[in-house]
Amino acid sequence: MSGRTIDYLRISLTDRCNLRCRYCMPCAVPSVPMDEVLAYEEICEITRAAALEGIHHVRVTGGEPLVRKGCPDCVRMLKEIPGIETVMLTTNGVLLKEALPELLLAGIDGINISLDTLKREKYREITGYDGLPHVLEAIEACVKAGIRTKINVVAAREINETEIVNLAELSKQYPVDVRFIEMMPIGYGKCFHGLDNREVLSQLKERYPGLTEAKTVPGAGYGPAVYVQIPGFPGRTGLISPIHGKFCKDCNRLRLTSVGRLKYCLCYEDSEDLRALVRSPEEVEKRQEKIRKVFREATDRKPGEHRFEEMEQISEKKKMHEIGG
Ligand code: GTP
Ligand code: 5AD
Ligand code: SF4
Repeated sequence: MSGRTIDYLRISLTDRCNLRCRYCMPCAVPSVPMDEVLAYEEICEITRAAALEGIHHVRVTGGEPLVRKGCPDCVRMLKEIPGIETVMLTTNGVLLKEALPELLLAGIDGINISLDTLKREKYREITGYDGLPHVLEAIEACVKAGIRTKINVVAAREINETEIVNLAELSKQYPVDVRFIEMMPIGYGKCFHGLDNREVLSQLKERYPGLTEAKTVPGAGYGPAVYVQIPGFPGRTGLISPIHGKFCKDCNRLRLTSVGRLKYCLCYEDSEDLRALVRSPEEVEKRQEKIRKVFREATDRKPGEHRFEEMEQISEKKKMHEIGG
């Protein structure tokens, strides 16, 4: 589909995770051997080529990126690449407080933290780990450090239907954006009853009738979220609605998996093996040219839109922790 500007690359550092979210990776899965995972130098070689083909924004994801040793080093290396303007991180927040000083030194531009409930026992039930205090401390540390922070809430009947207003009120307490994400029928996400963001919005409007809708807000980020403002709140409320507000026609992104496959869409298997290119024994200039070509052709290879409705019937192989959200 033409008319889309691809300037954003999501880089998964690892498919491993220290949590076992029931809708994502409810039980341990055999991890990919480390020699199959891209080294940080390889990730940077690919990103250097990508930057020459118009990628300006990078998001580091997982699994959980902070379980991989040296994640802040990778952030620093990515920040040094000419043409890369922002490097952000998406994390579950459990290891974030300890890693934050190093991430800040590395020049991280923003941090998105996944948090689906404010109830300690519920958090343990959903993620398999009693980690809520760690995540809340990490949010406070981010706010104290003045780093741009967003909270990602995946909304589902079984998880947080009764907590929508409370979760949104995190942006009353802190200058953070709280974004509600519609559950996608990927992997175990299929087993949940995801909330429709129109319902989330009406719950919020009922509680806060002065809420104003805004299509775009300056500095809102580079992703698919649409933001609304609750009067008096320092932070905003965001809605990411892949099911009931398809944003594919504006999609600006590609995904690099931890084993070096460049994915064109979160929904489909189609991908290109960049690891083979970056590990080929050719001279670096030749490798760079081949990688650049893949990025140049990516706009044409990107599917027009996702078809989750049909996917629900299919038992596809890839899970969210391998794709990186
Ligand atoms: P910013 O808005 O720039 O902060 O980034 P972002 O929202 O793209 O990043 P984040 O990792 O926080 O993504 C939040 C969630 O949005 C992801 O976990 C996905 O669930 C969803 N999402 C992000 N990109 C896509 C996409 O291309 N397609 C679909 N369907 N969902 C996406
Ligand atoms: N649908 C929507 N979001 C999901 N995530 C994981 N699985 C799904 C799903 N099926 C989210 C996590 C985190 C991000 C990395 O991806 O909650 O916010
Ligand atoms: Fe880990 Fe994120 Fe998946 Fe939860 S949603 S298991 S935190 S990768």
